[in-house]
Amino acid sequence: MQWKEGHDMKKMNVGIIGCGNISDIYMKNCTQFQNISVVACADLNETLAKEKAVKYGIPSVLSVQELFAYPEIEMIINLTPPGIHAEICLKALEHGKHVYTEKPLAVSLEDGEKILEAATKKGLAIGAAPDTFLGAGIQTCQSLIEQGKIGDPVAATALMMKSGPEQWHPNPDFFYQPGGGPLFDMGPYYLTTLIQLLGPIKRVAASAKISFHERTIQSGEKQGETITVNTPTHLSGTLDFEKGPIATMVTSFDVWATNTPFIEIYGSEGTISVPDPNTFGGPVLMKKKNQEEWQEVPLLTGYQHNSRGMGVSDMVSAILDGTPQRASGELAFHVLETMHAFQQSSRLGTHIKLESTCKQAPLLDMKHLFWEKTK
Ligand SMILES: NC(=O)c1ccc[n+]([C@@H]2O[C@H](COP(=O)([O-])OP(=O)(O)OC[C@H]3O[C@@H](n4cnc5c(N)ncnc54)[C@H](O)[C@@H]3O)[C@@H](O)[C@H]2O)c1
Repeated sequence: MQWKEGHDMKKMNVGIIGCGNISDIYMKNCTQFQNISVVACADLNETLAKEKAVKYGIPSVLSVQELFAYPEIEMIINLTPPGIHAEICLKALEHGKHVYTEKPLAVSLEDGEKILEAATKKGLAIGAAPDTFLGAGIQTCQSLIEQGKIGDPVAATALMMKSGPEQWHPNPDFFYQPGGGPLFDMGPYYLTTLIQLLGPIKRVAASAKISFHERTIQSGEKQGETITVNTPTHLSGTLDFEKGPIATMVTSFDVWATNTPFIEIYGSEGTISVPDPNTFGGPVLMKKKNQEEWQEVPLLTGYQHNSRGMGVSDMVSAILDGTPQRASGELAFHVLETMHAFQQSSRLGTHIKLESTCKQAPLLDMKHLFWEKTK
């Protein structure tokens, strides 16, 4: 994709807080989006922030407090661990900055509510990961459903089962604390995708458990250290959607191998096999009721590579140009409430009705593909 020379694109100055594992892809992409200028980054670990600034050509390294106070910065991208999300989001809003945060929006529902309320009060925007549903794979699935290619959706499965991140992440403690676990870590990809494809959720039920009470870190400087597990690591749930479909969802860090698909949507006229919702590409497979074989559906033109940060660019476009904001706070809050409702259902042994709702984000307007200077 080429930069349109001379195109008069409005830009927003953005600062990044949190320069750890996931920051590389944000810094790589956000320094290329045409409507964003990454002007500074900050981390409690200043050496790390300096290294990343040099690697991605970010002009300033600031302390976290300096970044909040920096007048030119209009939006903060929050890439800290989940337990810190609410604190950073609320401070950013206090300082008059829009915020886009990594998932989940917050750990507690109360903090999620506080963030949305503070943003509304201040007239600022909140956005949240994941933005993988803006990739060509899930956009193609959404388009197929909207065109009625599988008739009326009646049911779905969403299955995320694997061994834990202590196998590869150098600092995996947070994955086993409240706000982590497979549900809070990977659930947002699956729930966000289900909501995009089927609409908001009405009620849920689940059973959750901790299968192994300790984990051993397998790589990096902390290799051999033990983590005490303080959050469920296997959850099996059901979801009823406002429009009628029912879904089965499993999230697990307790499974060594599986052959199950990521997400399937079952319609009155056929089935769509949805690609990994933690990625932006395909394949998208579809099988209609009279077809013998699965058919691979050509992807809508668009983002198929790792495009993390698209949600930020889309949000900037919403603020500056009045286009719809897709990876919104409202959506992230609905996902957060669903995850809490799953855990509450397991504790209480009953269905939990959700109080929040959200809109399905409209398909990307492909005219916006000039977001990136070069790709
Ligand atoms: N690693 C991944 O593959 C991945 C993928 C998608 C999303 N995420 C999400 O991204 C977020 C960050 O994950 P990560 O893997 O990069 O974690 P990480 O531990 O590698 O990095 C987090 C960084 O935040 C910094 N930090 C912590 N508290 C801070 C504070 N108060 N102020 C400033 N900086 C602070 C830490 O020093 C660290 O450098 C999490 O919410 C995670 O769920 C991670």
